[in-house]
Amino acid sequence: MHKSSTQTIPEVGDMPRHVAIIMDGNGRWAKQRFMPRVAGHKRGVSAVRETVTACGELGIQYLTLFAFSSENWRRPADEVSVLMQLFMRALENEVAKLHENLVRFKVIGDLSPFDVRIRELIARGEELTKDHTKLTLTVAANYGGRWDILQAANKAQMEKLQHSRASQGINAPEGTPVDEFQKISEVELAQHLSMAYAPEPDLFIRTGGEERVSNFLLWQLAYTEFHFTQELWPDFGRVSLMKAIDSYRRRERRFGRTSEQLASAGHITSATAA
Ligand code: IPE
Ligand code: IPE
Ligand code: MG
Repeated sequence: MHKSSTQTIPEVGDMPRHVAIIMDGNGRWAKQRFMPRVAGHKRGVSAVRETVTACGELGIQYLTLFAFSSENWRRPADEVSVLMQLFMRALENEVAKLHENLVRFKVIGDLSPFDVRIRELIARGEELTKDHTKLTLTVAANYGGRWDILQAANKAQMEKLQHSRASQGINAPEGTPVDEFQKISEVELAQHLSMAYAPEPDLFIRTGGEERVSNFLLWQLAYTEFHFTQELWPDFGRVSLMKAIDSYRRRERRFGRTSEQLASAGHITSATAA
């Protein structure tokens, strides 16, 4: 479990350990070419492939991609249905390749509204690749940052209740009042977040020109470096990723401290070295 950066200052290096991306602009990419929006989503899958490969080669340990937000159900039903079909096809065709390339595959989000076949493919893919340590690819599907914080808070609260029931007597029945209201700590909550297995993102990238978080990893982005690009997701690839990483490497991550403190602690950052 990695503590929140607001409690512990994470180790930072020249290369981001965790890159999180909002893959935006598929619809506009298609529109520019007088094609249906779904053509953009299809091309978006190729951009995912290239980005995963590039991250593997660059030694990035965690890549998290926002594929479908909890708000995207508001789109026209036919677009939602094509997105689901594409997700299913990608699961069928890509997971074996991920396995061959030693990529651990994970999905975060509320999976309950998905078709049972999709849920089975996810479970199989996660099981097949669970022991790989090279790169962890997380796909956020029906994910919302608020949902994540709430589900974690509920689980943490439940754990506390069970713990205090157990300490009141092993057979204390359901509904036994808890002695006093017990507050959940930041660490207790964070360990129930859906990405508790990963350090918080170092670098956040959003393509498509919008400069907003759109309910992505709200808790985990507390001290992440942001990079926005006009480039539309289907055009994104290795070169675009390198540009974002270049920008990241020129920044000084202070986590509340001053530049002088960092220098005296012996941190030679790219920004100060440049
Ligand atoms: C991102 O591209 C893909 C999903 C949200 C599934 P968009 O479909 O949002 O593309 P634009 O923003 O309309 O161009
Ligand atoms: C955010 O993209 C979600 C994904 C990329 C999956 P949207 O294009 O749906 O975001 P908003 O609603 O315009 O902010
Ligand atoms: Mg969009």
